[in-house]
Amino acid sequence: MKLLAIMGSPHDMRGNTGRLLEEVLKGVEQGGAEVELVSLSKSKVLPCVSCDVCHQTGNCPINDDFGGIKAKLLACDGFIIASPNYITSVTAQLKALFDRCTNIIHCVSLEGKYGAVVETSGGGEDAEVIRYMERFVNTVGAQSVGGIGSPLAGFRTFPAEASLFAKAQELGRELCRCIEEKRHFPEQDAYRNAFKARMKGLIEYRQKEWTCEYEYWQGRK
Ligand SMILES: Cc1cc2nc3c(=O)[nH]c(=O)nc-3n(C[C@H](O)[C@H](O)[C@H](O)COP(=O)(O)O)c2cc1C
Repeated sequence: MKLLAIMGSPHDMRGNTGRLLEEVLKGVEQGGAEVELVSLSKSKVLPCVSCDVCHQTGNCPINDDFGGIKAKLLACDGFIIASPNYITSVTAQLKALFDRCTNIIHCVSLEGKYGAVVETSGGGEDAEVIRYMERFVNTVGAQSVGGIGSPLAGFRTFPAEASLFAKAQELGRELCRCIEEKRHFPEQDAYRNAFKARMKGLIEYRQKEWTCEYEYWQGRK
């Protein structure tokens, strides 16, 4: 079982989000998965320039680390996305990665995979940021196993830390179990199915320009 953890904090694993992600990764290890960590602070992922080329060819022409991360996302069984709350959203580094995933989103290419999300904040709105990150998990086609988030008590410390860390480890184990059991989350079907139908319709409508995506959708359920 191969997992990919994407860390969106500029502090990498040394910050608060890294501390919480460490606990999720303990659970992943207990669940028996092999995990690769990709830190966006050590990677170069430039913002999308909306050139349309990925829709036409399947490849982004920007020469940076995105292609390698995309290949890892396509090859994994599940993934974890971690970010601090930056103005009730994710970091610019992670948002740049989300935006670069438009070809993956148009093709809902991560269908069959599972995602989990990790967030920390200075003072709150954790649920809002987690919801946004879980929405990304669904738009790439994956099912969300859940998310964990918390405000801080201090540097790399959290209120009710023992119970938070127990939940974080459980999220890591649960991600592994969901992959093993091919778990189905019926409550996510309405959104995921409607989004997939929308993408299919969009690509049909743009079939003359977005030839690669159109070909991908042909013969697909
Ligand atoms: C640019 C910036 C924006 C932030 N925006 C928020 C915010 O809107 N709400 C909040 O509660 N904390 C906010 N914070 C605090 C961080 O979310 C918090 O310190 C987080 O734990 C940092 O994680 P890290 O150490 O992994 O980078 C912000 C911090 C920065 C640097």
